[in-house]
Amino acid sequence: MKKDRDYRILFNGIEVPIQLISGKYVIPINFDNAATTPPLKKVDTFIYDNLLLYSSIGRGGQKSAYCTEAYELSRQEILNFFNLTEQDGYTTIYVKNTTEGLNFLANILCGHKMDKVLATRMEHHANDLPWRMAAHTLYIDVDYEGKLNLQHIKEKLERGQGTIKYVTVTAASNVTGYINPIHDIARLAHQYGAMIIVDAAQLVAHRRIDMKGTGKDDAIDFLVFSGHKMYAPFGSGVVIGLKEIFDKKSPYLVGGGTVTAVFDDDVYWKNTPQKNEAGTPNFLGAMSIVAAMIVLSEIGFDEISSHEERLKQRLLSGLARIPQIICYGDSKDSNRLGVVSFNIRDIHYERMAQLLADIRGVAVRSGCFCAQPYVARLLGISNEERYRYMLNKDLKLPGMLRASLGLYNTEEEVDEFLNTIEHIIKYAKVKDKYIY
Ligand code: ALA
Repeated sequence: MKKDRDYRILFNGIEVPIQLISGKYVIPINFDNAATTPPLKKVDTFIYDNLLLYSSIGRGGQKSAYCTEAYELSRQEILNFFNLTEQDGYTTIYVKNTTEGLNFLANILCGHKMDKVLATRMEHHANDLPWRMAAHTLYIDVDYEGKLNLQHIKEKLERGQGTIKYVTVTAASNVTGYINPIHDIARLAHQYGAMIIVDAAQLVAHRRIDMKGTGKDDAIDFLVFSGHKMYAPFGSGVVIGLKEIFDKKSPYLVGGGTVTAVFDDDVYWKNTPQKNEAGTPNFLGAMSIVAAMIVLSEIGFDEISSHEERLKQRLLSGLARIPQIICYGDSKDSNRLGVVSFNIRDIHYERMAQLLADIRGVAVRSGCFCAQPYVARLLGISNEERYRYMLNKDLKLPGMLRASLGLYNTEEEVDEFLNTIEHIIKYAKVKDKYIY
């Protein structure tokens, strides 16, 4: 088993000191990996090497030929990462990030507002709002602990009698870290004539994802993720999907690179994926994702998940020992990523996040994490109450704090985080001057 330190040396930027409100400099603690992640050193060097040969894709000269070949090869690397090849009928389409990828899919796959899509109340806004705009969206609700129930998905599909075209679900929640059984959901969707879309933004850097499943019945049809949540923050994300479906659909964004011929009144599109990537591609973004995948595969997901599990257990049991802490979700569920949302009695989440940053340089996210319907359910707040908060500017909006772990985080950081929380709780009531 590797030690925490072994992973830290793989990253750039995480040891750069930051200044606290006291003027002191410290190495910060980043517990906001569910939002974005720092770059792997290998990603930076790979980018730099490729930068020296940088040119446009599909244009003139030797550098362009190199970039075009590397860009096209990167598609195969990405498919391999998910245990796929082009022979399995899948293709990759580069986008900016998960949000753009899900907007792309919603607009491409759903022809009109009568197309039925089944989403869940666990989704972050990126896997909810695009479907609301493009389709008739139905929802599976979560239970009191914020979990999905497969039986509810089955019942909804059954009632749909084949009219639900797509089921879209997150592979892991950005609020509770719950990992959903995507292959079981795929099997159900397929049984009722629907296809499945998986939002893998949170899972991709943490667990192995085998899109093939055990066969056609439980294979994943479409999957979306971002580079910036997998230690490759250079502006690229990917949509993976069944090529034959994209071949039948019109493109979403159009422009240079997408056409074979444009007449005064007629347009001939290129094949997928080129017809789906309008404008100059983000070559360096694509390279960065491939480099991150190479590193993660070399480390291995067994190592990655057992490291994260150790930190998560330490964090959860530490939080459970602090009486003022309210944790959301089922702390005993082992099928969770290192994403822990909580509140502290009598200290507003925004103030707490600010204090954590001010006095120890800890970065956590606070608020509703772009997942308002889910967070409201976990907090037990009804829609009526939420409208009241929205209309009354004097009321502070309900929300939470979230600590989310990455590969380079350590047990010492977890301990320091817990100590800082206890320190703040102890002195917050006395006077702020004791806190700093
Ligand atoms: N989904 C991102 C987060 O959880 C934005 O922070």
